[in-house]
Amino acid sequence: MAESDPISQPPPRVPQHVAIIMDGNGRWAEQRGISRNEGHKQGLESLRAAVRGANDLGIQWLTLYAFSLENWSRPKSEVESLMGLLEHYLETEIDEVMEKGIELRCIGRTDRLPPRIRDGVAAAVERTRGNREMHLIFALSYGGRAEIVDAARKLLRDAELGNVDPERLDEKMFAAYLYDPEVPDPDLLIRTGAESRVSNFLLWQIAYSEIYTTEIMWPDFREADLERAVQEYQSRERRFGLTSAQVSGRRGAKA
Ligand code: IPE
Ligand code: IPE
Ligand code: MG
Repeated sequence: MAESDPISQPPPRVPQHVAIIMDGNGRWAEQRGISRNEGHKQGLESLRAAVRGANDLGIQWLTLYAFSLENWSRPKSEVESLMGLLEHYLETEIDEVMEKGIELRCIGRTDRLPPRIRDGVAAAVERTRGNREMHLIFALSYGGRAEIVDAARKLLRDAELGNVDPERLDEKMFAAYLYDPEVPDPDLLIRTGAESRVSNFLLWQIAYSEIYTTEIMWPDFREADLERAVQEYQSRERRFGLTSAQVSGRRGAKA
């Protein structure tokens, strides 16, 4: 990620990168006496709304936690339904995604995805590569610890080949081994569905993200809710370990 000094700048009006844990589909459905899968289906509408909303707000990077490594242990029928919805999304949205100039990316252990889905994701990523209006990253078959382990594995291989000197390893060098090192760290992490936990999402990258949780279940989440989260973010002071006086002093010095 860009190594510019984050505390020497006033917080940008709009977060550059928003990451969302889209949670609550199952409970939303259960509350209505319908199947969890109906909740996931409705969640797709919220996903579309989040992409539209982020684009309208000028958010450059949007990462959506769509399926965790732990989610593979859900009932087979639910996993199949989620994969089907993903495929449906890619098929039905890709033209609009292209039109809007959005680039699709994917992070996770995608080798575990059914081949049809994996190919569909790869084709969508390929087709949208180089789009610059916004970057939409799907965390699919994703685990934060797995990402760190996968990075460590690649790093160790490079060390074995003599390409890396262990003494020179620092955070910046390590981060270059993560799934997509071009992506800046999230400024804002949103979790819907009334839970306050990270659930193995972007563990490395959220070190200094602002966290926003809401009671709203994902199928009810709309553009206005994203806007509210961004407004709350804008009211926060990001201190990165410094005192408030230091942060405003730095800003004053810059102004
Ligand atoms: C989020 O909703 C979607 C995925 C995890 C794939 P859930 O399915 O976790 O919904 P709840 O948390 O059971 O309500
Ligand atoms: C996190 O939600 C994963 C996704 C939103 C894809 P979960 O529903 O799987 O998380 P837990 O089990 O409540 O921690
Ligand atoms: Mg959940």
